[in-house]
Amino acid sequence: MHDQNYVYINGKFVEREKASVSVFDHGLLYGDGVFEGIREYSGIIFQLKEHMVRLYNSAKYIRLPIPLSMEEMEQAIISVLRKNNLKDAYIRVVVTRGAGDLGVDPKLCNRPNIFIITESMESVLSLSEPKVISVMISSYRRDSTDATSHEVKSLNYLNSVLAKIEANEMEVNDAIMLDRRGFVSEATVSNVFIVKDGSVHTPSGASGILRGITRGRVIRLCEELGLEIKERDITPYELFTADEVFLTGTKSEIVSVGKINSVVIGKSSPGPVTRSIYRAFRKAVSRREEGVPAFEESYAYRSK
Ligand SMILES: Cc1ncc(COP(=O)(O)O)c(C=O)c1O
Repeated sequence: MHDQNYVYINGKFVEREKASVSVFDHGLLYGDGVFEGIREYSGIIFQLKEHMVRLYNSAKYIRLPIPLSMEEMEQAIISVLRKNNLKDAYIRVVVTRGAGDLGVDPKLCNRPNIFIITESMESVLSLSEPKVISVMISSYRRDSTDATSHEVKSLNYLNSVLAKIEANEMEVNDAIMLDRRGFVSEATVSNVFIVKDGSVHTPSGASGILRGITRGRVIRLCEELGLEIKERDITPYELFTADEVFLTGTKSEIVSVGKINSVVIGKSSPGPVTRSIYRAFRKAVSRREEGVPAFEESYAYRSK
Protein backbone atom coordinates (compact mmCIF):
# COMPACT_ATOMS: atom_id res chain seq x y z
CA MET A 1 0.00 0.00 0.00
CA HIS A 2 2.86 2.33 0.79
CA ASP A 3 4.82 1.52 -2.37
CA GLN A 4 6.91 4.47 -3.44
CA ASN A 5 6.60 6.19 -0.10
CA TYR A 6 9.84 7.76 1.02
CA VAL A 7 10.78 9.28 4.34
CA TYR A 8 13.18 12.19 4.55
CA ILE A 9 15.96 11.51 7.06
CA ASN A 10 18.77 14.04 7.50
CA GLY A 11 18.75 15.15 3.88
CA LYS A 12 18.20 11.74 2.29
CA PHE A 13 15.10 9.96 1.02
CA VAL A 14 14.79 6.49 2.50
CA GLU A 15 12.12 3.90 1.68
CA ARG A 16 9.47 3.86 4.37
CA GLU A 17 10.24 0.29 5.50
CA LYS A 18 13.93 1.08 5.85
CA ALA A 19 13.56 4.41 7.62
CA SER A 20 15.09 4.20 11.09
CA VAL A 21 17.11 6.01 13.74
CA SER A 22 19.49 4.72 16.41
CA VAL A 23 18.16 2.98 19.53
CA PHE A 24 20.46 5.43 21.38
CA ASP A 25 18.47 8.41 20.10
CA HIS A 26 17.22 10.40 23.09
CA GLY A 27 14.00 11.05 21.21
CA LEU A 28 13.29 7.37 21.74
CA LEU A 29 15.01 6.89 25.12
CA TYR A 30 13.59 10.02 26.81
CA GLY A 31 11.03 11.65 24.52
CA ASP A 32 13.64 14.36 24.03
CA GLY A 33 12.73 16.14 20.83
CA VAL A 34 10.05 18.20 19.12
CA PHE A 35 7.66 17.67 16.26
CA GLU A 36 4.91 19.11 14.08
CA GLY A 37 1.88 17.63 12.38
CA ILE A 38 1.00 19.59 9.24
CA ARG A 39 -1.62 19.15 6.49
CA GLU A 40 -1.39 19.69 2.79
CA TYR A 41 -4.70 20.35 1.04
CA SER A 42 -4.86 20.30 -2.77
CA GLY A 43 -1.14 20.99 -3.02
CA ILE A 44 -1.11 23.85 -0.47
CA ILE A 45 0.78 23.20 2.78
CA PHE A 46 -1.74 24.71 5.17
CA GLN A 47 -0.31 27.32 7.53
CA LEU A 48 3.23 26.08 6.98
CA LYS A 49 4.81 29.29 8.32
CA GLU A 50 2.84 29.04 11.58
CA HIS A 51 3.94 25.42 12.02
CA MET A 52 7.56 26.37 11.37
CA VAL A 53 7.45 29.13 13.98
CA ARG A 54 6.01 26.72 16.55
CA LEU A 55 8.56 24.02 15.71
CA TYR A 56 11.49 26.38 16.13
CA ASN A 57 10.03 27.86 19.32
CA SER A 58 9.51 24.37 20.78
CA ALA A 59 13.13 23.57 19.92
CA LYS A 60 14.33 26.84 21.41
CA TYR A 61 12.53 26.11 24.67
CA ILE A 62 14.20 22.71 25.04
CA ARG A 63 17.57 24.15 23.89
CA LEU A 64 17.68 21.98 20.79
CA PRO A 65 19.49 23.73 17.92
CA ILE A 66 17.90 22.61 14.65
CA PRO A 67 20.67 22.22 12.07
CA LEU A 68 18.48 23.55 9.25
CA SER A 69 17.21 27.09 8.78
CA MET A 70 13.45 27.50 8.69
CA GLU A 71 13.62 27.98 4.94
CA GLU A 72 15.67 24.82 4.49
CA MET A 73 13.14 22.92 6.61
CA GLU A 74 10.31 24.19 4.41
CA GLN A 75 12.22 23.10 1.33
CA ALA A 76 12.81 19.67 2.85
CA ILE A 77 9.06 19.28 3.45
CA ILE A 78 8.30 20.34 -0.11
CA SER A 79 10.92 17.95 -1.44
CA VAL A 80 9.43 14.89 0.22
CA LEU A 81 5.88 15.77 -0.86
CA ARG A 82 7.16 16.03 -4.40
CA LYS A 83 9.14 12.84 -4.13
CA ASN A 84 6.00 10.99 -2.98
CA ASN A 85 3.78 12.99 -5.33
CA LEU A 86 1.31 13.79 -2.55
CA LYS A 87 -1.20 16.64 -2.93
CA ASP A 88 -3.43 15.84 0.07
CA ALA A 89 -1.27 14.69 2.90
CA TYR A 90 -0.51 14.58 6.57
CA ILE A 91 3.09 15.60 7.23
CA ARG A 92 4.99 14.69 10.38
CA VAL A 93 8.20 16.64 11.01
CA VAL A 94 10.34 15.32 13.87
CA VAL A 95 13.56 16.68 15.31
CA THR A 96 15.12 14.48 17.98
CA ARG A 97 18.03 15.22 20.29
CA GLY A 98 19.95 12.52 18.43
CA ALA A 99 22.03 9.59 19.64
CA GLY A 100 23.78 9.89 22.99
CA ASP A 101 24.66 7.62 25.87
CA LEU A 102 22.20 5.97 28.25
CA GLY A 103 22.07 8.94 30.62
CA VAL A 104 19.40 11.64 30.34
CA ASP A 105 21.94 14.43 29.83
CA PRO A 106 21.57 15.80 26.28
CA LYS A 107 25.14 17.16 26.30
CA LEU A 108 26.55 14.04 24.69
CA CYS A 109 24.04 14.01 21.84
CA ASN A 110 26.05 15.54 19.06
CA ARG A 111 23.69 15.67 16.12
CA PRO A 112 19.90 16.04 16.10
CA ASN A 113 18.05 13.70 13.77
CA ILE A 114 15.49 15.24 11.43
CA PHE A 115 12.90 13.13 9.72
CA ILE A 116 9.79 13.93 7.74
CA ILE A 117 7.05 11.36 7.13
CA THR A 118 4.23 12.04 4.67
CA GLU A 119 1.04 10.08 4.14
CA SER A 120 -2.01 10.66 2.03
CA MET A 121 -5.05 11.47 4.14
CA GLU A 122 -8.76 12.14 3.72
CA SER A 123 -9.77 15.61 4.79
CA VAL A 124 -12.62 18.01 5.48
CA LEU A 125 -12.79 18.44 1.74
CA SER A 126 -14.42 15.00 1.45
CA LEU A 127 -16.92 15.43 4.31
CA SER A 128 -19.56 18.15 4.28
CA GLU A 129 -20.46 17.75 7.96
CA PRO A 130 -18.22 17.47 11.02
CA LYS A 131 -17.91 14.06 12.65
CA VAL A 132 -19.54 13.67 16.05
CA ILE A 133 -17.64 11.96 18.87
CA SER A 134 -18.11 11.09 22.53
CA VAL A 135 -15.53 12.02 25.14
CA MET A 136 -14.89 11.75 28.86
CA ILE A 137 -13.24 13.95 31.44
CA SER A 138 -9.93 12.31 32.16
CA SER A 139 -8.74 11.60 35.68
CA TYR A 140 -5.29 12.74 34.52
CA ARG A 141 -4.62 16.45 34.79
CA ARG A 142 -2.84 18.26 31.99
CA ASP A 143 0.83 18.71 32.85
CA SER A 144 1.28 22.18 34.24
CA THR A 145 3.19 24.96 32.51
CA ASP A 146 6.12 24.53 34.92
CA ALA A 147 6.28 20.77 34.25
CA THR A 148 6.41 18.99 30.86
CA SER A 149 4.16 21.66 29.47
CA HIS A 150 2.14 20.93 26.36
CA GLU A 151 2.88 24.48 25.27
CA VAL A 152 5.95 22.75 23.86
CA LYS A 153 5.14 20.31 21.09
CA SER A 154 7.62 17.79 22.41
CA LEU A 155 7.93 14.05 21.90
CA ASN A 156 6.88 13.55 25.53
CA TYR A 157 3.21 12.57 25.11
CA LEU A 158 2.71 10.18 28.01
CA ASN A 159 0.19 12.53 29.61
CA SER A 160 -1.96 12.29 26.47
CA VAL A 161 -1.28 8.58 26.03
CA LEU A 162 -2.56 7.81 29.55
CA ALA A 163 -5.70 9.85 28.94
CA LYS A 164 -6.23 8.08 25.61
CA ILE A 165 -5.88 4.68 27.30
CA GLU A 166 -8.50 5.79 29.79
CA ALA A 167 -10.80 6.82 26.91
CA ASN A 168 -10.24 3.45 25.22
CA GLU A 169 -11.07 1.63 28.45
CA MET A 170 -14.27 3.65 28.82
CA GLU A 171 -15.08 3.05 25.14
CA VAL A 172 -15.29 6.70 24.19
CA ASN A 173 -13.41 8.43 21.41
CA ASP A 174 -11.26 10.83 23.38
CA ALA A 175 -10.63 12.43 26.77
CA ILE A 176 -10.60 16.07 27.84
CA MET A 177 -8.13 16.95 30.58
CA LEU A 178 -8.48 19.59 33.25
CA ASP A 179 -5.58 21.77 34.31
CA ARG A 180 -4.08 21.78 37.82
CA ARG A 181 -6.64 24.36 38.94
CA GLY A 182 -9.60 22.33 37.71
CA PHE A 183 -10.35 24.36 34.57
CA VAL A 184 -10.79 22.73 31.17
CA SER A 185 -7.46 22.38 29.36
CA GLU A 186 -7.50 20.32 26.15
CA ALA A 187 -8.14 16.89 24.68
CA THR A 188 -5.33 14.38 24.04
CA VAL A 189 -4.29 15.89 20.69
CA SER A 190 -6.74 18.72 20.11
CA ASN A 191 -8.04 21.97 21.56
CA VAL A 192 -11.48 22.50 23.07
CA PHE A 193 -14.09 25.10 22.14
CA ILE A 194 -17.52 25.67 23.66
CA VAL A 195 -20.42 27.66 22.26
CA LYS A 196 -22.84 29.40 24.64
CA ASP A 197 -25.63 31.75 23.58
CA GLY A 198 -24.01 32.25 20.19
CA SER A 199 -20.54 33.17 21.46
CA VAL A 200 -17.48 30.95 21.30
CA HIS A 201 -15.04 30.32 24.16
CA THR A 202 -11.77 28.42 24.36
CA PRO A 203 -9.25 27.87 27.18
CA SER A 204 -6.32 30.29 27.27
CA GLY A 205 -2.61 29.53 27.58
CA ALA A 206 -3.00 29.56 31.40
CA SER A 207 -4.52 26.06 31.14
CA GLY A 208 -1.27 24.60 29.79
CA ILE A 209 -2.61 24.00 26.31
CA LEU A 210 -0.69 23.58 23.13
CA ARG A 211 -1.60 26.71 21.20
CA GLY A 212 -3.02 24.81 18.26
CA ILE A 213 -2.53 26.13 14.75
CA THR A 214 -6.08 24.99 13.94
CA ARG A 215 -7.26 26.71 17.14
CA GLY A 216 -5.61 29.92 15.96
CA ARG A 217 -7.23 29.67 12.54
CA VAL A 218 -10.64 28.90 14.08
CA ILE A 219 -10.33 31.95 16.37
CA ARG A 220 -9.72 34.10 13.28
CA LEU A 221 -12.55 32.36 11.41
CA CYS A 222 -14.90 33.28 14.27
CA GLU A 223 -13.82 36.89 13.90
CA GLU A 224 -14.33 36.70 10.13
CA LEU A 225 -17.79 35.22 10.71
CA GLY A 226 -18.68 37.99 13.17
CA LEU A 227 -18.89 35.58 16.12
CA GLU A 228 -17.82 36.71 19.56
CA ILE A 229 -14.75 34.70 20.59
CA LYS A 230 -13.11 34.69 24.02
CA GLU A 231 -9.99 32.95 25.33
CA ARG A 232 -10.57 32.39 29.03
CA ASP A 233 -10.75 29.87 31.88
CA ILE A 234 -13.63 27.43 31.38
CA THR A 235 -15.10 25.36 34.22
CA PRO A 236 -16.29 21.73 33.81
CA TYR A 237 -19.80 23.04 34.56
CA GLU A 238 -19.61 25.38 31.57
CA LEU A 239 -18.37 22.52 29.41
CA PHE A 240 -21.23 20.17 30.35
CA THR A 241 -23.89 22.87 30.00
CA ALA A 242 -22.59 24.38 26.74
CA ASP A 243 -24.88 24.57 23.71
CA GLU A 244 -22.13 23.09 21.56
CA VAL A 245 -18.65 21.67 22.13
CA PHE A 246 -16.11 21.00 19.43
CA LEU A 247 -12.43 20.04 19.17
CA THR A 248 -9.81 21.30 16.74
CA GLY A 249 -6.53 19.81 15.57
CA THR A 250 -4.43 19.44 12.46
CA LYS A 251 -5.23 15.76 12.07
CA SER A 252 -8.84 15.74 13.31
CA GLU A 253 -9.61 19.21 11.88
CA ILE A 254 -12.96 20.14 13.51
CA VAL A 255 -15.03 17.48 15.29
CA SER A 256 -18.23 17.97 17.20
CA VAL A 257 -18.59 16.55 20.73
CA GLY A 258 -22.02 14.94 21.19
CA LYS A 259 -21.56 13.49 24.65
CA ILE A 260 -19.28 14.02 27.64
CA ASN A 261 -19.32 11.12 30.09
CA SER A 262 -23.05 10.31 29.99
CA VAL A 263 -24.20 13.89 29.38
CA VAL A 264 -25.62 14.84 25.97
CA ILE A 265 -24.32 18.23 24.85
CA GLY A 266 -26.84 20.83 23.66
CA LYS A 267 -29.86 20.04 21.53
CA SER A 268 -28.16 18.31 18.65
CA SER A 269 -24.66 17.69 17.37
CA PRO A 270 -23.14 19.12 15.34
CA GLY A 271 -24.77 22.40 16.39
CA PRO A 272 -25.34 25.36 14.06
CA VAL A 273 -22.28 27.38 15.13
CA THR A 274 -19.95 24.37 14.83
CA ARG A 275 -21.44 23.71 11.39
CA SER A 276 -20.82 27.23 10.16
CA ILE A 277 -17.24 27.27 11.49
CA TYR A 278 -16.66 23.88 9.85
CA ARG A 279 -17.96 25.18 6.52
CA ALA A 280 -15.72 28.25 6.72
CA PHE A 281 -12.72 26.07 7.64
CA ARG A 282 -13.44 23.83 4.66
CA LYS A 283 -13.35 26.84 2.37
CA ALA A 284 -10.15 28.16 3.96
CA VAL A 285 -7.90 25.11 3.86
CA SER A 286 -7.02 24.97 0.20
CA ARG A 287 -6.87 28.72 -0.47
CA ARG A 288 -3.45 29.59 -1.80
CA GLU A 289 -2.93 32.45 0.64
CA GLU A 290 -3.48 30.12 3.60
CA GLY A 291 -0.22 28.29 3.09
CA VAL A 292 2.68 27.45 0.82
CA PRO A 293 2.20 25.69 -2.53
CA ALA A 294 4.26 22.51 -2.70
CA PHE A 295 4.22 22.01 -6.44
CA GLU A 296 4.75 25.50 -7.90
CA GLU A 297 8.04 26.25 -9.61
CA SER A 298 8.73 29.40 -7.58
CA TYR A 299 9.02 27.12 -4.57
CA ALA A 300 11.29 24.67 -6.35
CA TYR A 301 13.35 22.57 -4.00
CA ARG A 302 16.97 23.60 -4.15
CA SER A 303 19.01 20.52 -3.39
CA LYS A 304 22.49 21.22 -2.06
C1 LIG B 1 -1.74 18.34 22.91
C2 LIG B 1 -2.28 18.94 21.67
N1 LIG B 1 -3.15 19.96 21.76
C3 LIG B 1 -3.67 20.54 20.66
C4 LIG B 1 -3.33 20.10 19.39
C5 LIG B 1 -3.90 20.78 18.18
O1 LIG B 1 -2.90 21.57 17.60
P1 LIG B 1 -2.86 21.84 16.03
O2 LIG B 1 -4.14 22.48 15.68
O3 LIG B 1 -1.69 22.73 15.84
O4 LIG B 1 -2.69 20.52 15.38
C6 LIG B 1 -2.43 19.05 19.25
C7 LIG B 1 -2.05 18.58 17.92
O5 LIG B 1 -1.35 17.64 17.73
C8 LIG B 1 -1.89 18.46 20.41
O6 LIG B 1 -1.02 17.45 20.32
